[in-house]
Amino acid sequence: MERQILTPKFPHFLHGGDYNPDQWLDRPDILEKDIELMKKAHVNCVSLGIFAWAKLEPQEGVYCFDWLETIINNLYENGIYTILATPSGAKPLWMSEKYPEIRRVSKTLHRDLSGQRHNHCYTSPVYREKVREMDTRLAQHFAGHPGVIMWHISNEFGGTCYCPLCQEAFRNWLREKYGTLENLNHAWWTNFWSHTYTDWEQIHAPVPNGETEVHGLTIDWKRFTTYQTLDFMSEEIRAVKAVNPDLPVTANLMSFYEEIDYFKFGPKLDVISWDAYPAWHNLEPLKEAARTASCHDLMRSIKHEPWLLMESTPSVTNWAPVCKLKRPGMHELASLQAIAHGSQSVQYFQWRKSRGSSEKLHGAVVDHYGGSDTRVFREVTHVGERLETLEKAVYHTEVKPEVAIVFDWENRWAMEGSRGPRNGGLKYEQTVQAHHRAFWKQGVPVDFVDMDGDLSGYKLVITPMLYMYRNGFAKKLRAFVENGGTLVSTYWSGIADDTDLCFLGGWPGDGMMEVFGIWNEEIDALHEGETNRMDVRESMEGLRSSYTLSELCECIHLRGAEALAVYGQDFYAGSPVLTKNHFGAGDAYYVAARAEDAFQEDFYASLVKELGIRRALDTVLPEGVTASLRVGETDVVFVQNYNGEEKTVRLPYAMTDAETGETVQGDLVLPGYSAHILLEK
Ligand code: GLA
Ligand code: ZN
Repeated sequence: MERQILTPKFPHFLHGGDYNPDQWLDRPDILEKDIELMKKAHVNCVSLGIFAWAKLEPQEGVYCFDWLETIINNLYENGIYTILATPSGAKPLWMSEKYPEIRRVSKTLHRDLSGQRHNHCYTSPVYREKVREMDTRLAQHFAGHPGVIMWHISNEFGGTCYCPLCQEAFRNWLREKYGTLENLNHAWWTNFWSHTYTDWEQIHAPVPNGETEVHGLTIDWKRFTTYQTLDFMSEEIRAVKAVNPDLPVTANLMSFYEEIDYFKFGPKLDVISWDAYPAWHNLEPLKEAARTASCHDLMRSIKHEPWLLMESTPSVTNWAPVCKLKRPGMHELASLQAIAHGSQSVQYFQWRKSRGSSEKLHGAVVDHYGGSDTRVFREVTHVGERLETLEKAVYHTEVKPEVAIVFDWENRWAMEGSRGPRNGGLKYEQTVQAHHRAFWKQGVPVDFVDMDGDLSGYKLVITPMLYMYRNGFAKKLRAFVENGGTLVSTYWSGIADDTDLCFLGGWPGDGMMEVFGIWNEEIDALHEGETNRMDVRESMEGLRSSYTLSELCECIHLRGAEALAVYGQDFYAGSPVLTKNHFGAGDAYYVAARAEDAFQEDFYASLVKELGIRRALDTVLPEGVTASLRVGETDVVFVQNYNGEEKTVRLPYAMTDAETGETVQGDLVLPGYSAHILLEK
């Protein structure tokens, strides 16, 4: 099957990034130099106009697009394509002063003053109208331009507004959802503390000095925030698509960003893109490499399609607590990591450093120095060259995992908005990433799915800490196992339903006790530094005799499952902690306590072997070295070394170097911070 082409007007790997010529219109020499340097750096695509509203509409109703047209034409004539932004991420000052309603109201219920960015009200009819007008005009002017290949809708949607318009929209959304107050009161369990609503007007968004203890309200407010953000974005998309329905749209997302359920963006966007800013070389650099891989996988999984790396810094950010330089090689490695996980681009923030204001010290391809004889420019150029070389072998391949991890935003909001069993940190995101890391270390590709997603087609599904079972998900899990799938679930799963009402009759609820063959009676929380022990009883191949447990330990009972391991300590010593239940044609494992990484690594390695799940490279991978896989007519293996020093990998058979065309076999030597791209013979 031909892969979806993200940018039909220019079907190639994209290399380039955010370009802000609107800051340099009085410097034609610099604009000219930009083109010269872009060509030198093998840049073929820029994102334009993201924060240019004040230049596009300097006064209300006065539109100036000539400068933008000149820039787009110049770029196009020089072989550089444009992803054109709608400028709604930052409203011009004249507008936010004239129309206060477009400014957000914060949790303290104070309205923002003008300034900053990404802070418009998503509900405001005035702002929606202004944006619609701007987007329509931009589309009429540019959507047919041969150099404009995609829309970049706004910038990094996020945040929440507590203004009266948003609160009213929330109430209407609730009316639509629940129909009656009686239904709402039941779903939110409001008899508790006499918080029963007797009038819709009594409902307010959760804020610190208001209602925070009706957990159903908190989750619904977050659902509404996603809904309203999407509604705003959809209006923008409608405006540009009305002019040219064929020009694809994207929005730049932020991976595990807490406030928005990105899975809901999938059906609205033609292309998923995201902005990756890993803290390379932090104090746990290998974990950071794995975490970044999980972010790429999450973003790819929104549509299960190729995606675009829309932003990344060519050198440093200026907002991290410590803005450490990428070590030589790291930039290329990080860029190829994105490609390895399914990206069709390496784009940067930013092309040229601004001279003033908040991002003047943020990394860029072109420094204030202005020349191409810099380390960063050379590394960027090399990435561009490598992408060109790799395109033929890699562009038409895709990532097709056999393993899926369930990550669900609503589950996250529910678990984290709840109280107990460990208010010092349940660590949902970290737990999901720890499970992902165990596969990353073995070079096993992984997808994410949420509870609206499709499980069929996977051999192995992991549901870490799935506190909430919503939208009939338990039935999906049940069917998956019944039909022969292997399911691994953990502690703190199957506790509450869609509106955070606890399941009655035993956990994991909604029929899943039967699937796992266990009953979870109690959960114990451990203090920092306290541990328990998992003693492995039944020999599961590859497992050690014991593992350290911490933080959360459930007291479960067997109801048909077999115990593979038991607790080693405390009053529940000897009771099961790792169980397996054969159900239908499949198996359901339950891990009742938080275990050290080594457990996940050994346990999943054993399952990967048993289930015949494909690794990118079937060999021993040294610590900090991993392999990723894109499959196609010829499969492509990306071997990546995240250590600063050289590592050697023994290839299982002869392969072809995708860049040199040479045969490689035996020992593959990987310099520090490097990636080798190999083709299966
Ligand atoms: C985000 C924004 C960019 C820029 C970068 C800086 O990703 O989208 O405009 O501010 O951060 O890292
Ligand atoms: Zn608002």
